Amino acid sequence: MNRIAILTSGGDAPGMNAVIRSVVRTAIYEGAEVYGVENGFEGLIDGKVKRLYESSVGDIIQRGGTILGTSRSERFRTEEGFKKALGVLEVFGINKVIVAGGDGSLRGALDLSKAGIDVVGIPLSIDNDLGYTDYTIGFFTAVDTVTEAVSRIRDTTEAHGRANIVEVMGRDCGDIALFSGLAVGAESIIVPEKIETIEEVAKKAIVRRNRGKKYHIIIMAEGAGSSEEFAEKFEDLTGIETKVTVLGYVQRGGKPNVVDIMLASTIANKAVKESLRENASFAIGYTDGEVRVFDLKDALKIEKKFNRSVNDVLNITSI
Ligand code: F6P
Repeated sequence: MNRIAILTSGGDAPGMNAVIRSVVRTAIYEGAEVYGVENGFEGLIDGKVKRLYESSVGDIIQRGGTILGTSRSERFRTEEGFKKALGVLEVFGINKVIVAGGDGSLRGALDLSKAGIDVVGIPLSIDNDLGYTDYTIGFFTAVDTVTEAVSRIRDTTEAHGRANIVEVMGRDCGDIALFSGLAVGAESIIVPEKIETIEEVAKKAIVRRNRGKKYHIIIMAEGAGSSEEFAEKFEDLTGIETKVTVLGYVQRGGKPNVVDIMLASTIANKAVKESLRENASFAIGYTDGEVRVFDLKDALKIEKKFNRSVNDVLNITSI
């Protein structure tokens, strides 16, 4: 009898519950027992493991957050914590673990696989910072949220004839800024991948202002530096009154959009099927329109690339 455990780890993202639902129902369909671990790797260390049934995941597909809870576990990185987690898996007779989370969480999954546990990773983070998959689950909902928020910020920015620097999440990845920047028709984006300097952005704003443009929206990724400092310098260089909006955790909440529910359901379904293979340690991703299986170790070595073609479209269409 295969016993599969599912845990959600790291920053929550819209679509986590849809992943849990798909894992549980696919596992039962495949004849396996399925267990939910509370609060990510923290709960694995503390033995917070419970059996899940078809009905345990009813009415959650559309809900934000995660019914299992999540954490960023420092203890899992210690020898003591890691050993305890392995002990818990043994006590419950769990031979397969599915980890849903971002880069740090999938690296935790890799540590488990190195200790001989069959592990499958599901890419789940609003940041879209994993190189092996085109999209992480939760990313497009976060972009939707930013797009909606900026449409409101635009109204007030236009009314006052100001500039607004909208700071978005993403850690070291500029994708939330890039995709929402395109979707809102932002004048410029500032990203950790260092595509444009503040001087270039300021120069473009001056050209647009001289042409009659009344207001300026700039989306800045949190990993690109301090938005307050950027705004101060931008105001000095351009003479345009400049405000800052930090969107923060609003980007992580809310119900997943259709794209994220589709990705969550199909990737999680594949994760369970792959987990039933012998000596299975995989990462599931979505590339070129298809759900695909990668070796976990190799997947995490693939470098995340900045999407220059989307950036080119943004630049051309925001002139
Ligand atoms: O990993 C997702 C993320 O939302 C990042 O974009 C952000 O930098 C970070 O999590 C914030 O994490 P925390 O919940 O620890 O404050």
